[in-house]
Amino acid sequence: MKIKILIIALMLFACSGISMVHIKRAVAVEDIVRMDTSAFGRLRRPAAVFDHNSHNEAAQIDDCAVCHHVWENGKLVPEESSEDTSCSECHGLIAGPHNPMTLTNAFHIQCRSCHVKKGKGPLLCAECHQKK
Ligand code: HEC
Ligand code: HEC
Ligand code: HEC
Ligand code: HEC
Repeated sequence: MKIKILIIALMLFACSGISMVHIKRAVAVEDIVRMDTSAFGRLRRPAAVFDHNSHNEAAQIDDCAVCHHVWENGKLVPEESSEDTSCSECHGLIAGPHNPMTLTNAFHIQCRSCHVKKGKGPLLCAECHQKK
């Protein structure tokens, strides 16, 4: 009897270990509620509010590549997504021949232009750059 309980306890422990790893990975994107501004250095505005999952649910965006795009030779590659790559890995802070667009412009153009197009979502500085 005691051995049975021990085995069950061990099995539960092993399972919880596996699911912990699982939960930890899933939480990463769910945890994004404000922008990570570490690529910017000294900030002029508070980090923009962006609750990744609830934003995308409310905005009804199913295709990850709408934001996490992949380009090749100046053309969008449909059905491919760069969700594992931060925007800052491709968009540098300073404009230059090898930089498709500065990081600040990349965010402002992507975020704001969709809000304009849909007639929904914030357009004013302080609506995105909210004080904590
Ligand atoms: C794998 C590299 C890569 C990643 C990651 C990436 N981009 Fe881009 N992005 C590009 C390239 C290359 C272009 C330029 C296309 C061209 O040749 O005009 C571009 C163009 C843009 C443009 C202008 C065209 C358009 O779609 O309106 C915006 C805005 C933009 N990126 C925002 C973002 C944002 C925001 C992120 C992160 C969510 C991001 N990008 C992630 C490579 C990338
Ligand atoms: C409205 C735009 C938008 C949509 C749609 C979107 N994301 Fe994101 N996602 C972002 C932005 C912005 C970030 C933060 C990127 C950064 O700081 O470089 C991000 C970050 C992430 C990260 C963390 C990446 C990292 O660098 O740590 C993952 C993973 C991710 N998104 C997955 C997804 C998946 C999967 C989908 C589709 C189900 C999706 N995203 C749809 C905008 C979007
Ligand atoms: C493809 C379209 C699209 C893109 C790209 C997009 N948004 Fe939105 N956003 C929306 C829509 C639609 C709403 C309104 C949702 C609703 O009806 O509540 C919205 C709402 C918001 C809101 C209001 C609160 C909320 O979470 O619903 C904030 C803040 C916001 N967006 C920030 C951002 C930021 C920051 C980015 C860029 C990283 C971004 N959005 C990119 C479509 C977009
Ligand atoms: C739709 C949301 C949105 C709106 C509206 C918006 N921004 Fe941003 N902005 C962002 C995001 C997302 C970033 C990327 C990182 C962050 O959160 O600071 C950013 C980055 C910046 C940065 C670079 C980082 C820093 O703090 O130095 C500045 C400066 C900035 N915005 C100023 C402005 C000003 C000024 C306005 C109004 C004219 C404005 N933004 C409107 C979303 C927005």
